[in-house]
Amino acid sequence: MTTSDRTVVITGGTSGLGRECARTLAADPRWTVIVTGRDADRAHASAAAIGARGAALDLASLTSVTRFAAELRGAGLPPLHALVCNAGLQFTRRSYTEDGVEATFGVNHLGHVALVRALLDDLTAPGRIVFVSSGTHDPDQFTGMPNPLITSARELAYPPAATESGQRDGRRRYSTSKLANLQTAYELARRLGPRGIMVNAFDPGLMPGTGLARDAGKMVQLLWRTAARALVALPGVNTPAKSGADLAWLVTDPSVADVTGRYFVGRTERPSSTASYDIDVQHALYADSVELLDELAVDAARPEHP
Ligand SMILES: NC(=O)c1ccc[n+]([C@@H]2O[C@H](COP(=O)([O-])OP(=O)(O)OC[C@H]3O[C@@H](n4cnc5c(N)ncnc54)[C@H](OP(=O)(O)O)[C@@H]3O)[C@@H](O)[C@H]2O)c1
Repeated sequence: MTTSDRTVVITGGTSGLGRECARTLAADPRWTVIVTGRDADRAHASAAAIGARGAALDLASLTSVTRFAAELRGAGLPPLHALVCNAGLQFTRRSYTEDGVEATFGVNHLGHVALVRALLDDLTAPGRIVFVSSGTHDPDQFTGMPNPLITSARELAYPPAATESGQRDGRRRYSTSKLANLQTAYELARRLGPRGIMVNAFDPGLMPGTGLARDAGKMVQLLWRTAARALVALPGVNTPAKSGADLAWLVTDPSVADVTGRYFVGRTERPSSTASYDIDVQHALYADSVELLDELAVDAARPEHP
């Protein structure tokens, strides 16, 4: 009997892409698979159904990220060899994280940067980090989403009042967060390569029917669910099961063991948008994000009534 000798953490593993990726990985007895979600009971139940282990992790709370990392470290698991930064949301109204950061940027980007940093000492070579991005990051893909707009980490975290309708503002924040995922993957690939940690980004294609539209109106949600059956034969449209298996491939396959700083659409390496390759912007986004996280950590540690 093979026993597990390595651990993988998947953020947002309770539904959609993350759950299907976890299902594939959990079928391999070498991996201990940690499935995370905001609610502990839901994460445990979802994980148990596929032979994984569940844990509470809310990327909208830096306290939760810190707690999760400490619990993982104390859980006596096999070494951490992979991290899948998959959790992602779209908001139709302005929302904010527990720490007061705009929620799309806060969950999709900043929470994942905080998680990577919290787990850096635990990640063991040969290791892999995969960021789940999206074709919406690239204006040339004509996905129907507003073009991303990276200004600065600070402005994305604390945006001025919306100048567009709530829906459009939210959709632009989503495509921007997916560009930030890519830029972060490229930046971390350079930083972590010397330590034997490979970092890549992944586009699952359009997967109608997942929970991604949960914040949308009833009509959009209905369309999103029914479109799943109608559209899946089209190119670029996938079931979560197909894309989940592709994502698991990028996390484990020996053929990509030494590949880093690349963008995969399914199992095919592709160029990402022109903007995503700007090294100065990648560096500034990451450095400013770390600075923001440090400020937020100081604020969290400061007593409310000194
Ligand atoms: N669906 C598509 O067409 C599509 C296309 C391209 C890229 N993507 C990307 O694929 C990824 C997965 O999306 P999906 O379509 O599978 O959506 P989904 O079914 O809604 O899954 C999102 C996951 O994120 C978790 N989550 C939500 N808020 C969280 C938070 N604050 N902290 C931690 N976890 C949180 C959810 O778990 P709980 O609710 O249990 O917390 C859930 O497991 C996202 O990054 C998305 O941008 C999706």
